[in-house]
Amino acid sequence: MDRRLCLCRVAVLPSGLLFLLLLLMLLADPALPAQRHPPVVLVPGDLGNQLEAKLDKPTVVHYLCFKKTDSYFTLWLNLELLLPVIIDCWVDNIRLVYNRTSGTTHFPDGVDVRVPGFGKTFSLEFLDPSKSNVGSYFHTMVDSLVGWGYTRGEDVRGAPYDWRRAPNENKAYFLALREMIEEMYHLYGGPVVLVAHSMGNMYTLYFLQQQPQDWKNKYIRAFVSLGAPWGGVAKTLRVLASGDNNRIPVIESLKIREQQRSAVSTSWLLPYNHTWSPEKVFIRTSTTNYTLQDYQQFFQDIGFEEGWFMRQKTEGLVEVTLPPGVPLHCLYGTGVPTPDSFYYETFPDRDPKIYFGDGDGTVNLESALHCQTWQRQQEHQVSLQELPGSEHIQMLANATTLAYLKQVLLGP
Ligand SMILES: *[C@@H]1O[C@H](CO)[C@@H](O)[C@H](O)[C@H]1NC(C)=O
Ligand SMILES: *[C@@H]1O[C@H](CO)[C@@H](O)[C@H](O)[C@H]1NC(C)=O
Ligand SMILES: *[C@@H]1O[C@H](CO)[C@@H](O)[C@H](O)[C@H]1NC(C)=O
Ligand SMILES: *[C@@H]1O[C@H](CO)[C@@H](O)[C@H](O)[C@H]1NC(C)=O
Repeated sequence: MDRRLCLCRVAVLPSGLLFLLLLLMLLADPALPAQRHPPVVLVPGDLGNQLEAKLDKPTVVHYLCFKKTDSYFTLWLNLELLLPVIIDCWVDNIRLVYNRTSGTTHFPDGVDVRVPGFGKTFSLEFLDPSKSNVGSYFHTMVDSLVGWGYTRGEDVRGAPYDWRRAPNENKAYFLALREMIEEMYHLYGGPVVLVAHSMGNMYTLYFLQQQPQDWKNKYIRAFVSLGAPWGGVAKTLRVLASGDNNRIPVIESLKIREQQRSAVSTSWLLPYNHTWSPEKVFIRTSTTNYTLQDYQQFFQDIGFEEGWFMRQKTEGLVEVTLPPGVPLHCLYGTGVPTPDSFYYETFPDRDPKIYFGDGDGTVNLESALHCQTWQRQQEHQVSLQELPGSEHIQMLANATTLAYLKQVLLGP
């Protein structure tokens, strides 16, 4: 149908009728998007969505631990499970068991873990289903989206995943993500905006690198990246060596270390040589300096040799020299003291002395800035936006971030 011809013919009709006709045309012609705003998919970071577990275990580590449950319960995040003694049960349920031969993980005997709420937002709005402030994550952002006319679970959806694993062990997730994006494109009349935080950016980049360019051109309108650790994170060495409880102060570092080591995604996030100099010393002890060339020795010295297998198996998953191939908005926090290197008087079982550099408190600035290199490598626009004084988690709820997002979604 020649639309121009049709429009001039209806122009003589009374305006009410004209409106009705236009509306009918919009509804009838699938080539004309009835789009008010682009659909949004949210991809959370490490620890960034709820996990549920069901137990039927042969043995437990303490008589206080549950051996069997009738149904799924919240494994992450439930602060009550992180109290002294009970945390031993929790670690024994949330840890992954690594198989060096296959390079894959499995759940401990008698533990089944699932990710609730794929396609919904609840599991990443609040990590803790009791909706306590401690676990508030994407909530403010989703609330803002709703204020701009979005509807939870419809044109704004979450894509939670098992963040303990690296992308090679989340194949079904990426298939579901692709399907959901295509479905949203058809339901809401246009390409999708991906909004990722922290490690969710590495997941999103991995996902985009797996899709043909034609697919990306059709289905992805933009990728809004918040606090991305493109080149890894320096504090990961500390996490692996002595544990890091910084987000949940009731936990002892050495307890959480067991969980953090067993999660393959931790070793995957160690600093990469495309971002940091091979000479940079990340950890210093009285006898040894560890750079990114010394990971094998590092894993041996901290008594966690499996980590070296995990790292080798996952370090090539994301090809950082390969740009995402979609319009990219790269937002990163600066001016917040960010762990840059560590000195251990007692290695590795005591907390280190921390030396700080620039970044968002978690992601080092040099890592976040890696997206700069893509400006020359892809034809789609790459925009960088510094967020001075924006902390890694708080940036999600920050008014400047939300104003930027609103501009991307709704225009000026
Ligand atoms: C580890 O993986 C190998 C190779 O896939 C497999 O043959 C073996 O049974 C696995 N071991 C365990 C304990 O699951
Ligand atoms: C970086 O590390 C990878 C994996 O170990 C290696 O293949 C590559 O040659 C290294 N690149 C540089 C510049 O050292
Ligand atoms: C470790 O590196 C520091 C500089 O960062 C240097 O002063 C020191 O001598 C080195 N120590 C060892 C054991 O190599
Ligand atoms: C929000 O971000 C802006 C810009 O980065 C910054 O100036 C401000 O301090 C941040 N606000 C909070 C509460 O973190």
